Amino acid sequence: MKKMLSPSLMCTDFFNFRKELDIFEETNIDLLHIDVMDGSFVPNFALGSDFVKQLRAATKIPIDIHLMTITPYECMDYFSVQAGDFVSFHYEATDRIDEILDEIHRRGATAILAINPKTPIDVLIPFFDKLDGVLVMTVQPGFAGQKLLEGSKEKVASLRALLDSHGKTEVFIEVDGNITLPNAKMLSDVGADVFVLGSSGIYRGDMKANISTFREALA
Ligand code: DX5
Ligand code: ZN
Repeated sequence: MKKMLSPSLMCTDFFNFRKELDIFEETNIDLLHIDVMDGSFVPNFALGSDFVKQLRAATKIPIDIHLMTITPYECMDYFSVQAGDFVSFHYEATDRIDEILDEIHRRGATAILAINPKTPIDVLIPFFDKLDGVLVMTVQPGFAGQKLLEGSKEKVASLRALLDSHGKTEVFIEVDGNITLPNAKMLSDVGADVFVLGSSGIYRGDMKANISTFREALA
């Protein structure tokens, strides 16, 4: 799978967002990562449904919505999940995993199951036939600006091996949390495909230059 960049919009400078969106369009960024936080699944709040509605009207770049909420099924309607969207929800947040994976597919979107740092990869095996991707949290979910957790590289490598051993070579791996350039390269080498780029990645200095640096490094 082609390596994809997904800027984390919770890290945006909201007073400059239109300029940033123009840069994402000029650079043909692959996805826009929308962290949704409900204050229950994680001790923080982030982007809401009105923001996503305006974003959909403002750009054609596909959205990569990351539901850190205890109501992922209901969020399908709250965020009008539709064809072309990438949607990740947490294994730890619900016992309706099959139903939600089916609902995401019914809407023509890409279904991604997210796991927290402490969750072992084996819990995903029963869903291998339904999921399109796995989002591996490489920090504790909830806040930008953290450091990559020990064992993240090994976890991504083992997940890639586990998927491949089940013939799921098409299932992609997304990594989210402190994805600096060195961390992106390290995780890419062991199988990561989609990179959530936040305060550690492109939201510092020259965003356009940062995007091309990540692109070259991950090519
Ligand atoms: C964690 C957040 C962060 C953010 C990326 O829940 O999802 O991973 O998007 O920000 P940095 O690059 O600061 O980790
Ligand atoms: Zn995220």
